[in-house]
Amino acid sequence: PVVTVLLCMAAYLAGSVLFALPVCRLWGLPDPRAQGSGNPGATNVYRTGGWLPALITLALDAAKGWLPVWLAHNAGLSALTQAMVALCAVTGHMIPAFYRFKGGKGVATALGAGLALAPVTTLAMAALWLLVLWRWRISALASVIAITSGPAISALIEPENLPMFGLLAILIVVRHRNNLIRLAQGREIGF
Ligand code: G3P
Repeated sequence: PVVTVLLCMAAYLAGSVLFALPVCRLWGLPDPRAQGSGNPGATNVYRTGGWLPALITLALDAAKGWLPVWLAHNAGLSALTQAMVALCAVTGHMIPAFYRFKGGKGVATALGAGLALAPVTTLAMAALWLLVLWRWRISALASVIAITSGPAISALIEPENLPMFGLLAILIVVRHRNNLIRLAQGREIGF
């Protein structure tokens, strides 16, 4: 129905706001697209600005995934529709309307959308992300391991969301293709 289309569009547009950019501007930090990995995300903000601006970027990029799914849930829309809204928000972050369709990798936005839709699976994935980061200090490795474990964790805990976690895993792994090449070559920059 109309509500579904409107929420999908709103989720895509919300996803299109790359919060790393205003946060860096406010913090007096360089444009993250021209620094470090070149990615407009929390990890790359951390590289130039440290914990606080990185955590704010993470929270805001997660919130733009969480809010539209929460709205869809409260509007009584089906689980399938909520998953579509989640994917629209993540797609917005990856190919944003406001930045010539050049966006980020979607991890924080997927975190927010996942927390609204399938919190137990998502918290387990986030715990895995932290564990890998703590052990190897490479954010991209943590992201790829966490997101690819999503379908298996979801199958055990929240199986109704398995298709969404499968799609998220594909999208996010594809966005990490350069990180994966660097990892294979032993050249990936650390956290
Ligand atoms: O969430 C993005 C992270 O997985 C990798 O970021 O800057 O190391 O490419 P970056």
